[in-house]
Amino acid sequence: MCGIIGYIGKRKVIPLLLQGLKRMEYRGYDSSGIALIHDQKFQLYKQKGRIEELEKVLNGTAGDASVGIGHTRWATHGEPSVLNAHPHTSSNGKIALIHNGIIENYSELRKALAKKGYKFQSQTDTETLVHLIQEFYEGDLVNAVLRALRRLEGTYGIAVLHVDEPDRIVVARKGSPLVVGIGEGENFIASDLAAIVEYTRDVIFLEDGELGTVTTDNFHHFNLEESVIKRKVTHIDFNLDQIEKGGYKHFMLKEIMEQPQTLENTMRGRALDDIGEVRLGGLIRRLDELKDAERIMLLACGTSYHSGLVGEYMIEEWARIPVEVEYASEFRYRNPIIPPNTVAIAISQSGETADTLAALREAQARNALGLSIVNTVGSTIARESEGGIYLHAGHEIGVASTKAFTSQVTVLALFALLLAQQRDFPTDKIKEILGELRRIPSLVERILKKDREIFEIAKIFSRASNFLYLARGPNFPVALEGALKLKEISYIHAEGYPAAEMKHGPIALIDRMMPVVFIATRDKTYKKVIANIEEVRSRGGTIIAVVNEDDEEIMELSDYVIRIPSCHPMLMPILTAIPLQLLAYHIANLLGRDVDKPRNLAKSVTVE
Ligand code: F6R
Repeated sequence: MCGIIGYIGKRKVIPLLLQGLKRMEYRGYDSSGIALIHDQKFQLYKQKGRIEELEKVLNGTAGDASVGIGHTRWATHGEPSVLNAHPHTSSNGKIALIHNGIIENYSELRKALAKKGYKFQSQTDTETLVHLIQEFYEGDLVNAVLRALRRLEGTYGIAVLHVDEPDRIVVARKGSPLVVGIGEGENFIASDLAAIVEYTRDVIFLEDGELGTVTTDNFHHFNLEESVIKRKVTHIDFNLDQIEKGGYKHFMLKEIMEQPQTLENTMRGRALDDIGEVRLGGLIRRLDELKDAERIMLLACGTSYHSGLVGEYMIEEWARIPVEVEYASEFRYRNPIIPPNTVAIAISQSGETADTLAALREAQARNALGLSIVNTVGSTIARESEGGIYLHAGHEIGVASTKAFTSQVTVLALFALLLAQQRDFPTDKIKEILGELRRIPSLVERILKKDREIFEIAKIFSRASNFLYLARGPNFPVALEGALKLKEISYIHAEGYPAAEMKHGPIALIDRMMPVVFIATRDKTYKKVIANIEEVRSRGGTIIAVVNEDDEEIMELSDYVIRIPSCHPMLMPILTAIPLQLLAYHIANLLGRDVDKPRNLAKSVTVE
């Protein structure tokens, strides 16, 4: 995820910006850049890759500039490259801008600006904004920024410089964090406290819809309607490590907790529930092939494979196209049959998993159209696929994948609906499902409030040696995922099964010592799952059930219940995954495991 740092004061700004950027490295990035004002001109340095690359270009120069902005970019629009790195400058070279967030209407704005003669250097959404500010500039940067922001749809945290107004940095926020650090005769801006906390602990947080002008000794703070805001200074007293993890003990917990936001980001501009339409920009050039698709193959490993299994239910139900989900590692070596009009989709958080990449190449070599669903923009799988959908879930640091899973399922739902809309699936049904999808972030938020309850259940079972996870229908892959989460971070043996499959073997394991986690939310298999619960109960197993909020029936049959809100049954896996992530997290944490870096595991498996 991108990072913003800015400074105005008396210090030499280059070392300060570089240090601030390094403090934000943990967020993940693929390029970086800084812009300084010196002698009424910009000095601009940008590099792809690590901040050390930027340092190499600067070659130890501290320079004399004492106002500047810096950015780490985590690509969303356009691959990681020097041209796409921030800061972006206006056509006349007088304005420099850094931006976190996504501008949704950038393509309309870009077209309009190009018609007026603005020259675009990059593929980014951000560059549109800097030209738009130039378009409105009439000698007052704040006014130009205000007018530009009023034309913008989407999210932003921005910092803007103008060479003719070198005594100020203009900042604004909507949906992307920004904080002003207050010093003496100097002020700081950042998207992340970690970038500035070593210089000041007195800060003012901007809220959505707010702007400000930061000068050496003042912060003028107002909103889009130009009403002045007087907000108290907050004193920060937690340490850097806590700040990087957003106050959470582990990145994994932070990533679980940020899912309402990441899910919102995943569907932004794509799920148009008001008109019942899905728009996926990365597939626009492939719509004809998708219309003719007769078979879909989903290729992935681990958690991504589990999201593929959920996708299978959705695509077959809504688009009525046969789907095969394959472990990428098996697919690549089994001489697969790929008939004409097959679309193969590699699903990968990192976009670098060796087996998934090899499976994608294998499918393409056998004439399938190779697409991808990836989180990391510009990763190898994203580059080698012929179209795709990014998750926009932000950098995932915890080795155990959490937010990527729920975003993958969300993207697969959108993809399934896109296929369905090409096949005359009724628009009012698409509308209804998209409406349900739009509710998901707030429902996830409600589930996250159960954290304490889930922690109490975790305390009871943290010493268990085995766990069984059972579910049916689209929740069955979540049972697999719940078991995977638990085993990888707690080292407790856990297995996931389709609930009905239990009596074909695993039922032999059931006794008093075996906790069985059931996902038993209401859908067409609900009654069947109750029967499976009865089977476990009658053999003395202990039942932990994830149920709908208003369910009384299963309450009677279970030892512990976790109640969650309901939504469209096909979308329930996004919700049912959350309590299982929390359960695994708390058990692992209670056992004192190294949650973010479990033994023997790597975040990105780039070997076979
Ligand atoms: C489990 C986990 C792994 C990954 C798998 C594939 O929590 O993270 O199972 O899902 O290694 O990785 P990606 O999605 O990066 O291809």
